[in-house]
Amino acid sequence: MSIPSLSELSTAMRAARDTGLVDLFAGDESRAHALSFRAAGLLFDVSKLHVTQDVLSAGARLAESMQFEAARAALLSGAIVNASEKRPAVHAAMRGDGADWLSDQQLASQVKAAARALEDFAQAFESRQVRTPEGKPYTSLIHLGIGGSALGPQMLLEALSGMGLAPALKAHVVANIDAAALMPVLEQCDPAATLVVLASKSFTTAETLTNAATVEAWMTGAGVTDPRAQMVAVTASPQKAEAYGLPKSQILAFPEAVGGRYSIWSAVSVPAVLAYGYEAFAEFLAGAGQMDAHFREAPFAQNVPAIAALMDLAYANGLGAQSRATFAYDQRLALLPSYLQQLETESNGKHVGSGGALLACLSSPVVWGGVGTDAQHAVFQLLHQGTHVVPTEFIVCARPQHSEMYHHHLLLSNCLAQSAALMTGRTPEQAAQKLGVAADDPLAVAKSFPGNRPSTTILMDALTPASLGALIAFYEHRVFTFAALIGINPFDQMGVELGKEMAKALENSFGNDAVTPANADPSTVHLLKYINAALNQG
Ligand code: F6P
Repeated sequence: MSIPSLSELSTAMRAARDTGLVDLFAGDESRAHALSFRAAGLLFDVSKLHVTQDVLSAGARLAESMQFEAARAALLSGAIVNASEKRPAVHAAMRGDGADWLSDQQLASQVKAAARALEDFAQAFESRQVRTPEGKPYTSLIHLGIGGSALGPQMLLEALSGMGLAPALKAHVVANIDAAALMPVLEQCDPAATLVVLASKSFTTAETLTNAATVEAWMTGAGVTDPRAQMVAVTASPQKAEAYGLPKSQILAFPEAVGGRYSIWSAVSVPAVLAYGYEAFAEFLAGAGQMDAHFREAPFAQNVPAIAALMDLAYANGLGAQSRATFAYDQRLALLPSYLQQLETESNGKHVGSGGALLACLSSPVVWGGVGTDAQHAVFQLLHQGTHVVPTEFIVCARPQHSEMYHHHLLLSNCLAQSAALMTGRTPEQAAQKLGVAADDPLAVAKSFPGNRPSTTILMDALTPASLGALIAFYEHRVFTFAALIGINPFDQMGVELGKEMAKALENSFGNDAVTPANADPSTVHLLKYINAALNQG
């Protein structure tokens, strides 16, 4: 499947690259101002990307040819945008006034009911009506979930913990099937005073159900007579949670049309809601709602998620960038890169278009990143002097939560310096002059920086629940726009199934009763033999 206007975009990108970022600034003194956009209280400075009028015009034509506006309207009105699963995608309806934009009133009521159920549960917890079977307050919470059912609450808990709010209980999130993740958490908790959240959209996920069984055995082993009385399910399949043995009153349901990696707006975030209060969560939702309004209303060339998506596409297909890196210059957002990795790659890591034809362009960049300044001392070498083009994103707050302003000034100066250095670089001549050697001296060449490397700075006045909500909603809409521009479905994840099926077939291949599946490939058989020999020695 080829997209005609994509080649126009690629040509415009190559021209912008050849001009170079420094010269783009030299040729337009208003560039920094003109390419800094405010949306939902956040500032997005894209002036250090290779954005030109030609790139934006080609992008607008591409958007028109791919019917972006119709796709956006379909998303926000709750039309079926997830064609393979025949569902709408209603994550934006879970926040702000999003539910009011849905055209299906039944769906709108379902969305509102899910939000109300979470709020009611949070209020019951805050007014101490949610208690252990012995009538005592819960002191800890273990949230079991994986992927979208874990990364959101984990990230939210970490971010909120640094916003000056005192937690009402100690919340732990456990995702991995590796018991090495669960065991240390169990050691920190009192079985009789622990609330267990089973978060699984499908309520079939092996990791979550296996961990749930182990937690239940841990409680029973410690003398808890009715462990399930201390459990709450969060799911889009409430019947399965009931079949598991939980009463309706212990099930927080959310609509099937909320994708797992988009479920941070739902009861999946219950550990953060209970730990830091519903009010903070309501602000988080409201901030996202503001970004939704911007995405819904701003024209393409001023629409921040749309511009970001366009540039992702332009760097990938025009300049061959296979990855994008995001660095949060804020310790509280250390988990954001992992969260974004799932959001973006599970959504847009596709090779087939919505109509079933193979894509003739690059889809999702490999999304990676870390936390600044740590990453500067680890991976920034590649960004500055490596052979890959890596559009880089810097996220930073003008004001910190703490009062150590000297630390904060150093953090800010590092953040700004990195993007400036990526752009300006240093020629071999400049390096030679600094070193006092000839320009062709190998050391001068090695100490030169190519520059002209793209970056975006996302500036928040401060990290608050609302600014975080706006930030996450920005990324969601960027993902959606990217998908719309290349004609893929960002809401399914067929690519995770094959490995799951093959793991199931291997489950009985270990230990004394090992059975090697008949159709296992020679490499797998060889590895199985090696592992079983090691297990037998242990
Ligand atoms: O296997 C992938 C996936 O389905 C993700 O999309 C999802 O977030 C995760 O597993 C967990 O799924 P569930 O919430 O249904 O347990």
